[in-house]
Amino acid sequence: MSNDKCAMRLVGIEKHYGYVQALENVDFRVRHGEVVSLLGDNGAGKSTLLKVMSGAHRPTSGLIEVDGKRVSFHSPHDAAKVGIQMVYQDLALVEALDIATNLQLGEESLARFPWNLLGMLDRRKMQRDSLTQLERLGVRTAPPTRPVEMLSGGQRQVVAIARAAVRVLETHGRGVILMDEPTAALGYEQTQMVQQLIRRMADEGIAIVLVTHNLPLCFEVSDRVVVMNRGRKLADVRKDDTDRDSVVGWITGAKEERIDA
Ligand SMILES: Nc1ncnc2c1ncn2[C@@H]1O[C@H](COP(=O)(O)OP(=O)(O)OP(=O)(O)O)[C@@H](O)[C@H]1O
Ligand SMILES: [Mg+2]
Repeated sequence: MSNDKCAMRLVGIEKHYGYVQALENVDFRVRHGEVVSLLGDNGAGKSTLLKVMSGAHRPTSGLIEVDGKRVSFHSPHDAAKVGIQMVYQDLALVEALDIATNLQLGEESLARFPWNLLGMLDRRKMQRDSLTQLERLGVRTAPPTRPVEMLSGGQRQVVAIARAAVRVLETHGRGVILMDEPTAALGYEQTQMVQQLIRRMADEGIAIVLVTHNLPLCFEVSDRVVVMNRGRKLADVRKDDTDRDSVVGWITGAKEERIDA
C-alpha cells in the first residue's frame, strides 16, 4: 500500500513506562475509510498505541504522520486539530445537557446579537445541526432534546461516537477516530448499533481504529486486523485473508508472525 493514501501512519514506535516496554518498534497505518481492529491479550499494548495516536502519550521514539505529513503531538488537542478524535466512553459527555448540545460541545452556536454577548446559545440551530448530523450518520437513538442523563449506557456510547464523528467531519471532512473497547459494556442491540455506526463513518471516509476483545465484532466491521503481543505487532492482515483461529493464535502467541504488505 502506498503511504500517501494513509490517513495515519506510525513507524518504529517505542514506548517505555519506566522499566516497562509497552511498545516495541511498532509500525501501524490506517487508510481513509478503512476500519482496522487492534486485538491482543491484556497488557499487549493496544491502549498505549491508541494513546500515542491520540496525543495523550508521547512515544519514547518513532515517527507519526497524518495524511503524509510528519506530526508531533503534545496533547490530544494537537491531535484533534489535525482531525484525530479519541472516543472516551460516556465520561466525556455532560449528563445534564441534551444530545444536541453534547454533540456540539466546544463549538456551540451563539445566539444572535445582543444575546450572544450574554453567552446565550442558539439552541434551535444546534438541534437542527445535530439532527442533520445524526441523520447523515444513520443514528436514531433518542430525540436530540433528551438530556444525556436519561439515556442508557449504550445510547450514551453511540452519542459519544457520533460526537467524535461530527467533530471529524466538520473540521476536516475526513479524519481518524480511535475507539478503545467501545462495546465492552454494551448488550447485543447496542453493539449492533455501534457496529452500524462504525461502518457508516468509514463510508463517509473516516479512518477508524477499533480496540476490541470482541472477535465477532472485529470480523463483522474490520477491513484489516492487527494483533499485538507483548508490545510487538505480531500480525497485520486483511480480514478476508484470515480467520478466527489464526487471530486467536496470534493473540495467545501460539502462531508465528505474519505481516502482510
Ligand atoms: N501509565 C502506565 N504506567 C506504567 N505502565 C503502564 C502504563 N500504562 C500501561 N502500562 C503497561 O504497559 C503495558 C501495555 O498496557 P496497555 O494498557 O497498552 O495494554 P492493553 O493491550 O490495552 O491491555 P488491556 O486489554 O488489558 O486493556 C502493560 O504492561 C501495562 O502494565
Ligand atoms: Mg487497554
